[in-house]
Amino acid sequence: MADKVFIFDTTLRDGEQVPGCKLNTAEKVELALLLEALGVDIIEAGFPISSPGDFESVKQIAAIIKNATVCALSRSVEKDIESAAAALKGAHRPRIHTGIGTSDMHIKHKFNSTREAILERAVAATKFARRFTDDVEFYCEDAGRSDNAYLAQVVEAVIAAGATTVNIPDTTGYCLPHQYGEKIQYLIDHVSNVDKAVLSCHCHNDLGLATANSIAGAIAGARQIECTINGLGERAGNTSLEEVVMVLRQHADLGLYTNVNPKLLNSISQKVSDTMRMPVQPNKAIVGSNAFSHSSGIHQDGFLKNAQTYEIIAPEEVGAEGSKIILTARSGRSALAHRFHKLGYQFDRDDVDALYEEFLLVADRKKKCWKKTSTNWPKPEKLFPKK
Ligand code: KIV
Ligand code: ZN
Repeated sequence: MADKVFIFDTTLRDGEQVPGCKLNTAEKVELALLLEALGVDIIEAGFPISSPGDFESVKQIAAIIKNATVCALSRSVEKDIESAAAALKGAHRPRIHTGIGTSDMHIKHKFNSTREAILERAVAATKFARRFTDDVEFYCEDAGRSDNAYLAQVVEAVIAAGATTVNIPDTTGYCLPHQYGEKIQYLIDHVSNVDKAVLSCHCHNDLGLATANSIAGAIAGARQIECTINGLGERAGNTSLEEVVMVLRQHADLGLYTNVNPKLLNSISQKVSDTMRMPVQPNKAIVGSNAFSHSSGIHQDGFLKNAQTYEIIAPEEVGAEGSKIILTARSGRSALAHRFHKLGYQFDRDDVDALYEEFLLVADRKKKCWKKTSTNWPKPEKLFPKK
């Protein structure tokens, strides 16, 4: 029997923290409806205490979303938790997400506090949040760099205080996949009441390991993954939703599944990119414009014989337009012949050989013109001054 991994989408909260990606309430509501249609289990709608606009966005999303849980962020501060609870009042399934830093780095330099005092604040915040809803998630910020024995103590205490989900964020994207997986395993082995809560992975991408770490966490036993569309998020971003969903589909032998409809992944990626005015890098896994493009002769020849030689996912499975054969100076005869055929020309082998020679002369001269994004590019003489 496969186990469900809950998908907690934080595009509207952590994703929206990206400079320049701020959304207004109407945009947030529109995206929340698409996330619900996509099949995510929890939508983190915002951080209500942070601004009146964000409070209003959470309130409107709470009123309109029927199938997913709507979550609001707060620090371990009573007025934050009250604000989250007030914004979530109309929600069918409200969740308050509260928490505090548990690494010595955060305890000392952010809070000028001690492990004991932080533990007390964590318990108090959880109990306070439980006054408003029985769905309380607690985050142990910077868990990636927290001491495992102390982290286990906090996790056990907040579960005893009423947390039903405990988030283990690798806030700074520091961990290696095996370390993050071992951290989750350590908690499963050392927290006596761990079966009373869901452990959640929330990984940042500072070393490009967010997806790998989240998957390692799920393999170790976490049953919720926090992620964003297109991997948007603070600094280098968060775990990308489309990547975790497809990793779990591709590796069904892991015995883990999500409720997300993969056919909607490309359309929601485009919508988020347009609404947030944040382009998707062409080589982005699953949703990048080159994710199903083949440009070199060796790959094109194999692909034309059998698509699965170079594609582990059919583009239709994730709602992408289709595979593309791009003609470049690295392309081979079979790609050129394929293009002629598509254009309605029938050439014999000798003709294709001759045309291929001509084609290479043209292709070698051609350089893709990328859109200039900055007018302030340094002149080459500045970068490499003459001696
Ligand atoms: O990265 C992080 O630790 C967070 C928490 C607020 C959950 O985003
Ligand atoms: Zn985060």
